[in-house]
Amino acid sequence: MSKNIYVTMPTLAPLKEVDAYLQQVWESGVMTHNGPLLRKFEHDVAEWHGMQHHTVVVNGTIALQLAIRALGIKGEIITSPFSFIATTSAIMYEGCTPVYADINPETLNIDPANVEAAITNKTVAIMPVHVFGNTCEIEAIEAIAKKHNLKVIYDACHSVGVRYKGKSVFAYGDISCTSYHATKMLNSGEGGGCYTNDAELDAKMKRIRFFGFSEDKTNVVEEGSNLKMTEVHASVGLANLKYLQAALADRKEKYMLYKQLLSVNPKCHFQRINDDSCNYSYFPLILDSEETLLKVDAALQAEHIFARRYFYPSLNTFTDIVPYVKMPNSENIASRILCLPLYFTLLQEDVERIAKVILKTL
Ligand SMILES: Cc1ncc(COP(=O)(O)O)c(C=O)c1O
Repeated sequence: MSKNIYVTMPTLAPLKEVDAYLQQVWESGVMTHNGPLLRKFEHDVAEWHGMQHHTVVVNGTIALQLAIRALGIKGEIITSPFSFIATTSAIMYEGCTPVYADINPETLNIDPANVEAAITNKTVAIMPVHVFGNTCEIEAIEAIAKKHNLKVIYDACHSVGVRYKGKSVFAYGDISCTSYHATKMLNSGEGGGCYTNDAELDAKMKRIRFFGFSEDKTNVVEEGSNLKMTEVHASVGLANLKYLQAALADRKEKYMLYKQLLSVNPKCHFQRINDDSCNYSYFPLILDSEETLLKVDAALQAEHIFARRYFYPSLNTFTDIVPYVKMPNSENIASRILCLPLYFTLLQEDVERIAKVILKTL
């Protein structure tokens, strides 16, 4: 029987390299409390991206919530219906209202024309998503934000390692939020980070992360909470950081191989990539119909290959939490998109076998 192949597996450093960091934790007895390894992880990942200000928190969802809270905004936030539920739930958790603007069906990112059309006198911010690590139309989004005096918070949870016009993609917007979840390009098990170019905003996020204490801890100056990453998670993240460059190169290679193998069939469509500004962290295959997708998924499962319908369904259809407003592009893409297995330890022969099963089914 062939082995099970899952849609993703974490990129993990050798255990002994994690252990070297854990030794420090055991020796110092500092398990958390904004400890030295959290600060090193925060610094080293920021430095890797060429960024100065980075506030590490427990996960990417909390990073999005922290960004909204630190900017002190309340009202409507225009966002993408084609994302993971965390984008919408972070907005709602902070007492704001998500308003969807439909995507461009080729890039899968929010369409700036639809953003502008969704603006009302209650709009306070735009929260675009760099879907699958493919950078949004940054200039158009920032021009709209400037014209209407709106904040921009990027959901950059897929975007570790991505550069745009000579800088990290995290350098754009008022705040860019990312995820260091086990499934992401860089992982600390669970983890997230907020990036900004504004030193005061960064300091505010660090105060909120730590119960709202002032820097000298003599006073409480913000409505804060406990958003800190533990030293154990920072240890995992630090060990894994050493392999980030290799993981990025490997992802691109396997992405290109899938694309080359599958593009022979006209029923296979691919996300239009913003050249040089994508980390190829996922391989989304867009089929011609949901019916074809279900056939392909079943054929893969019969071979113990577990792809994932991602993102599915379109967020505007979760009517227990949001009112339904039709988003034709997002709903259409969500019904026929399948993310194929893609991770560091996946073998080239696995990619070839997966492509073969798909082509045979089509
Ligand atoms: C687009 C997007 N936003 C936000 C999140 C939330 O990140 P986390 O799982 O670290 O909370 C995810 C996680 O998968 C995501 O894919």
